[in-house]
Amino acid sequence: MKVGIVETPGVLKLAEREIPKVKNADDVLVKVKRVGICGSDIHILHGKNPFAVYPRVWGHEFVGEVADTGAGVKSVKEGDRIVVEPITYCGNCYACLQGRPNVCVDVKVFGVHRDGGCADYVVVPETNVHILPEGLSWDEAALIEPFTIGAQACYRGNVQQGDYVLVMGAGTIGLTAASMAKLYGGTVIVSDLVDEKLNYAKSRGADYVINSGKEDLFKRVAEISGGMGPNVTIDAVCIKKTFEDAVLITSTAGRVVELSFNETPSEIAPVNIIKKEISVCGSRLQTKRFPVVIDFIKTGKLSLAGFVSKVYPVSQMVEAFEYIEKNNASVRKVLISFE
Ligand SMILES: NC(=O)c1ccc[n+]([C@@H]2O[C@H](COP(=O)([O-])OP(=O)(O)OC[C@H]3O[C@@H](n4cnc5c(N)ncnc54)[C@H](O)[C@@H]3O)[C@@H](O)[C@H]2O)c1
Ligand SMILES: [Zn+2]
Ligand SMILES: [Zn+2]
Repeated sequence: MKVGIVETPGVLKLAEREIPKVKNADDVLVKVKRVGICGSDIHILHGKNPFAVYPRVWGHEFVGEVADTGAGVKSVKEGDRIVVEPITYCGNCYACLQGRPNVCVDVKVFGVHRDGGCADYVVVPETNVHILPEGLSWDEAALIEPFTIGAQACYRGNVQQGDYVLVMGAGTIGLTAASMAKLYGGTVIVSDLVDEKLNYAKSRGADYVINSGKEDLFKRVAEISGGMGPNVTIDAVCIKKTFEDAVLITSTAGRVVELSFNETPSEIAPVNIIKKEISVCGSRLQTKRFPVVIDFIKTGKLSLAGFVSKVYPVSQMVEAFEYIEKNNASVRKVLISFE
C-alpha cells in the first residue's frame, strides 16, 4: 500500500508498506479515504515539531471505511464510515483520571508520535473511531478533527450564551473556533491581518471582523463590547504579541484561551491577570469533542460546505504541500484523497 512519509525533516515522499493486519481484539482496520493536511504536518515536514520522530507517516485528520475488525469490536462493523480520533493515552495518570487524556503524560498523536493517516490502511483501537453522520461527504468528514480543536478552545474558555468572544486569527483553527463560539451563543469578533480571510470568517457567521493591521484592535473591540472587552479571547495566531494582547484586552472575570506551541516568552505583568481575575488557560488537541462536533453536524447547525480549498490524489501529495505553502493567504484546508 501507499503511505506518505516525512523521511527526515525536509524530505516528504510516497513509500510502499505492507497493509497492516488486525492483531488485537479491539483493533479496527480502516481503509483511509481522506487525510487533511494541517499546519502541524507542515511543521513536522520542516523539523519544527519537537515531538515528531522520523521517518513518520504523517496525518492526524483522517476518515475512512472499516475494512476489518478484531474479535472484540462491537461498536463498528465492516463498511461503516468513520472518523478517527487521533490520540491514544495511558488511562491512569493524573490527567487521564481527571478526564483530560489529551494531556496524558504519555499522550501519543497519530502522525506525530506514531504513524498516522496518510496511508491506504491504518489500524486503530476501537475507542478511537466515531461513526460519521449519514450523507456527509468524505471531504466534509475530514474537517471534523479540526473543528474539534475549535470546540476544545470554546470548552476551555467556557463560552456562554451572550459572551463576547474574540478569536484572534482567521486561519483554519481560528475559523473553527469562531464557528463553534457562534454555536455556543457568543457574539463573535474575529481579527486577522488578511481581508480575504476576514471576509470568509464573516461569511461563516462572525458578527464582527477586524483587520488589526489597519485598525486599532483594542479600540474597535471596546466599541463593539460597550467598553467591556471580550469575555473570552481565543489566541489562534499564537505569537508573543497576540498572547500579551489577549491578556490585556479580555474583560474582567474573562477567560484567555491559548493555543500556541510557541516557545517565545511573553511579557505579562501579573497585575493584568489578577486585577481582572481572568483565567488564562491552554487548549491542546481535544477531549470528548468528537461527539459534540458530530452532533452539531447531524442537527444541521454546523455547516462545513465550502471549507475545503482543494483535494489532491495521493499521487500528488508533494504538490499538495507546495500548494499550501504558496497560497497561505487563501488556503483553508487541503485534503489528500485515497480513492
Ligand atoms: N493547541 C492546539 O491543539 C492546536 C491545534 C492546531 C493548531 N494549533 C496552533 O494554532 C495556530 C494557528 O493554526 P492555523 O492552522 O489556523 O494557522 P494559520 O496560519 O492558518 O492561521 C494563522 C492566522 O493568523 C493570521 N495572523 C498572523 N499574524 C497575525 C497578527 N499579528 N494578528 C492577527 N492575525 C494574524 C494569519 O493571517 C492567519 O490567518 C498555530 O500556531 C498552530 O500551531 C494549536
Ligand atoms: Zn490538525
Ligand atoms: Zn494518562
